[in-house]
Amino acid sequence: SDPGLVERAAAAKAALGDRVFVLGHHYQRDEVIQFADVTGDSFKLAREAAARPDAEFIVFCGVHFMAESADILTTDAQRVVLPDLAAGCSMADMAVLEQVEQCWDLLTDLGIAGSTVPVTYMNSSADIKGFVGRNGGVVCTSSNAKRALDWAFEQGEKVPGADAKQSATKVLFLPDQHLGRNTAVLEMGYSLDDCVLYDPHKPNGGLTDQQLRDAKMILWRGHCSVHGRFTYENVVAMREQVPGVNILVHPECRHEVVTAADYVGSTEYIIKTLDAAPAGSAWAVGTELNLVRRLAAAHPDKQVMFLEKTVCYCSTMNRIDLPHLVWALEELVAGRVPNQITVDPDTAHHARVALDQMLALP
Ligand code: 13P
Ligand code: SF4
Repeated sequence: SDPGLVERAAAAKAALGDRVFVLGHHYQRDEVIQFADVTGDSFKLAREAAARPDAEFIVFCGVHFMAESADILTTDAQRVVLPDLAAGCSMADMAVLEQVEQCWDLLTDLGIAGSTVPVTYMNSSADIKGFVGRNGGVVCTSSNAKRALDWAFEQGEKVPGADAKQSATKVLFLPDQHLGRNTAVLEMGYSLDDCVLYDPHKPNGGLTDQQLRDAKMILWRGHCSVHGRFTYENVVAMREQVPGVNILVHPECRHEVVTAADYVGSTEYIIKTLDAAPAGSAWAVGTELNLVRRLAAAHPDKQVMFLEKTVCYCSTMNRIDLPHLVWALEELVAGRVPNQITVDPDTAHHARVALDQMLALP
């Protein structure tokens, strides 16, 4: 990266000292990651944001929903900065509050909202987290989805007056169908038939009333366009080319990819798994490319490959580049707060309930 910009970022960070804390998600570019005080998956970064009440500014090198969550979890006096406001997440955009409320109204009309617990993936807007908090649900990330779902199914069983059938509670899982399905089927023993796909663009979600009544998991039709590019054929081809290869993927991948893989987990899990891998072992990794490249460089004694052939960055994560980081830090030095992310107090209150519930999971 441009040496002039590296120097400017270092100088601005030094000038701000303890007033600033820089968080970096594992999908960020190397040029940005070098300035992160802490790197992590989305769960770890949420915890880190909550654990730094003395930092006046949290500069979040990640995407919008992460910065919103950081704003919710930090004190009122702290300011959260996203170096480029265009760093969104296409998956988070797939669940809009009005659509989710419409779905809930439908479940209410069918008499099943009372036994349905909403669970939202961290990759959702603060509005959606607020909805989930208002309706007795929980947030989850890719590192605690099973624990969150276990908790959700236990809540439902406490619904007063629920009969035996209803006490077999349902979950409305937002917005990533793949994380929901993969967790329920591969980690919790539910069948594919227990899951239905709710399409917000179709009347009744594209489902019959009976399908909604019978489902255990109502999966929102959302997905990650980056992880959606990995295919079952990629796994088969990799195993043919590299005998003995270990396939390691993120749970945002499609069900058939995750089913065919050897290991599945969050970005933090992926890093730890490779750290613990023996020298000489071969790994094909199905997640965003900045992270896979960094892992390949960090493990020269292992063969670390990308599961797909074409380049596969998350374009919105990549919007945070060194020029944007330098600009944000220098604005802070100049006494201005650029690109501050704020969540309105009512939404923040309810979203916090759902986020705190996640942080309290056993
Ligand atoms: P992790 O929670 O594994 O970091 O993944 C989050 C993600 O997809 C970021 O987009
Ligand atoms: Fe969203 Fe996928 Fe990018 Fe993660 S990798 S920020 S889920 S688009």
